[in-house]
Amino acid sequence: MSENIVICDHPLIQHKLALLRDKNATTKDFRQIVSELAMLMCYEATRDLPLKDVDVETPVGIARSKVISGKTLAFVPILRAGTGMLDGVLTLVPSAKVGHVGIYRDHETLRPVEYYSKFPEELDQRDVIVLDPMLATGGSAIEAINLIKEKGAKSIKFMCACAAPEGLHALSSAHPDVKIYCAALDEKLNDVGYIVPGLGDAGDRIFGTK
Ligand code: PRP
Ligand code: URA
Repeated sequence: MSENIVICDHPLIQHKLALLRDKNATTKDFRQIVSELAMLMCYEATRDLPLKDVDVETPVGIARSKVISGKTLAFVPILRAGTGMLDGVLTLVPSAKVGHVGIYRDHETLRPVEYYSKFPEELDQRDVIVLDPMLATGGSAIEAINLIKEKGAKSIKFMCACAAPEGLHALSSAHPDVKIYCAALDEKLNDVGYIVPGLGDAGDRIFGTK
């Protein structure tokens, strides 16, 4: 597997994913667990953020310390389901900026249809983390990252709960510079483009629609 693909195998992440997969999880539980999973995965995905040295005056002396350098991070959830991950990641990085990309999959063709985008300024100077619980064919993630790159972003990561081999291959081929973090690499896509075993329709389960 490419070194740009990280399967987050932390026990807490794997435990939350198992809870998410359960078809009997309520909307309330599903929504909360997506958020918690995203927070834990964000910890992994921010492990390599650049630091700079600073001197901090403690009550007792000067501590040579490290703080995150550069412009604040930007999170970009893909609507709808990616917004379910936002609370969790903002708990860890409350100062982050947030962009949005609205994309849905056409049910017949499975191709992504973009309907909205809005990004923070100076994306070229920010680390961008794109959020979507599901990487199925990869079409939505590829299209979202195309738009983000058009705005100048140079440092992009993608974070999802479940990935299908087809989506992982498509995304890493289209955007080899983008590091992908997922909690699980599942078996396959079924004939209507759902991840097997996956967790069903993430947007519907987060928002209680169907
Ligand atoms: C889901 C999911 C991803 C996309 C993944 O969104 O949240 O965005 O499908 O599929 P892909 O990798 O084949 O593109 P959906 O189209 O159901 O839209 P929604 O979140 O608005 O329900
Ligand atoms: N989108 C989802 O929400 N679930 C899948 O399994 C595939 C795409």
